[in-house]
Amino acid sequence: MNLVTLLYLLASVCFIQALKGLSHPASSRQGNAFGMLGMALAVGTTLALIWSLAQAEQAALGVTRVLAGLVLGGALGTVMAKRVQMTKMPELVAFMHSMVGLAAVAIAIAIVLEPQAFGLGALAGLIPTGNRLELALGTLVGAVTFSGSVVAFGKLSGKYKFRLFQGAPVVFSGQHMLNLLLGILALICVIAFTLNQHYWAFAILIILAFILGVTLIIPIGGADMPVVVSMLNSYSGWAAAGIGFSLNNAMLIIAGSLVGSSGAILSYIMCKAMNRSFFNVLLGGFGASATQDAGAAQQEARPVKAGSAEDAAFMMSNAESVIIVPGYGLAVARAQHALKELTDKLDAQGVQVRYAIHPVAGRMPGHMNVLLAEAEMPYEQVFEMDDINSEFGQTDVVLVLGANDVVNPAAKQDPASPIAGMPILEAYKARTVIVNKRSMAAGYAGLDNELFYMDKTMMVFGDAKKVIEDMLKAL
Ligand code: TAP
Repeated sequence: MNLVTLLYLLASVCFIQALKGLSHPASSRQGNAFGMLGMALAVGTTLALIWSLAQAEQAALGVTRVLAGLVLGGALGTVMAKRVQMTKMPELVAFMHSMVGLAAVAIAIAIVLEPQAFGLGALAGLIPTGNRLELALGTLVGAVTFSGSVVAFGKLSGKYKFRLFQGAPVVFSGQHMLNLLLGILALICVIAFTLNQHYWAFAILIILAFILGVTLIIPIGGADMPVVVSMLNSYSGWAAAGIGFSLNNAMLIIAGSLVGSSGAILSYIMCKAMNRSFFNVLLGGFGASATQDAGAAQQEARPVKAGSAEDAAFMMSNAESVIIVPGYGLAVARAQHALKELTDKLDAQGVQVRYAIHPVAGRMPGHMNVLLAEAEMPYEQVFEMDDINSEFGQTDVVLVLGANDVVNPAAKQDPASPIAGMPILEAYKARTVIVNKRSMAAGYAGLDNELFYMDKTMMVFGDAKKVIEDMLKAL
């Protein structure tokens, strides 16, 4: 048993190393390798444990079942990960969380129905009180995570006609009261199950938690889904940790806590980068159609200075320094490889090229870093917002590629703007600004952008990939 604890501890250390590695693009491959090693150790140890504990026949059955799950889940995961586009990654993550939540509920049901099989309830199936509380809380969080993640998945994909899966917030009167009532009823069930092991309380708890997951997430707009996904990620970790306590499994407790706390920290970072409180996100409504309409209405009347890709190439080749601001549009256009060529060409002409990354550029944390890393952009050219914001004032040309909200000066200059106070990349301070997007349509927050109308700004309309390729030709 000591060896098992030691191996689980080793696996946990690998997971901590994985998180550490994933915090920087340069070390992320190593981080992934640590994560895979940790998971292999954890699964291998569990398999060995099943093999050694049970009688020969049971052991073979147990190991076969686990291997079948591994092959099936592993194959499904591989196919999905290979197929998914970068812009669809938040959906995949939401789907994965829903599975973690469901797994936590399934394990809890198995323990409650057959506690002896898990080393609990030796006395006539009576589960110790402490374990009952852990199981009830793990089930509550797991079931909320499952149904909440399914709704988040539907909202993010935008493919389904079903009303609950629409990006727009679903609101109705008495919604908060309903959530409160469901929460109170669920807590009563937790108490009833903890005190007396009432099976009816456990069954009702599962149903209530599934409903609560839906009613909690439907009022939140599609625009805030990435924060919600990160929050659900955190929940899924806590659910796993709760079940880990019941099973007395150090591995589950540590891995669950790591997921729980890192998800919570990520949600906090995202809220801070959007200048919104967590509570504000949970109440929903940001980026709803009202602001989009207002933004669109304002845009039509105002003139902008437009230029060609050739004009932009000319301006950049005559500059000493260029800062490139990548945004969601770059990911949509899949223009990262063409951009790498453009950077190399400018480099060869003696132009200093750097990248400025906003913490919430794109649709998920680290989206732009992953995109640039995929094109093998040197890490020393890639800067985080706080490290590069002071440089814009001394920069000749800023090239904004498919980004909008993250360079919107309204965040700093208009206290009435819905994004007032959101930290932005201060592109408007550069001597010249080139903005590439397809139209004058608003970005994610549905707002007009003053940067596009400034005298120093030249708009280059078109798909990012095509525009970059045209710039390359001109260079
Ligand atoms: P956005 O504000 O969404 O702007 C992207 C721009 O790209 C759009 O205005 C769009 O304009 C343009 N575009 C789309 N396809 C294009 C293409 N093929 N070629 C060229 N341009 C294209 O993106 P951003 O500046 O990256 O800001 C991110 C937003 O997402 C923020 O509001 C942020 O709060 C929100 N958000 C992000 C996260 C994370 S963690 N990343 C989480 C939650 C929310 P056209 O349609 O005119 O082309």
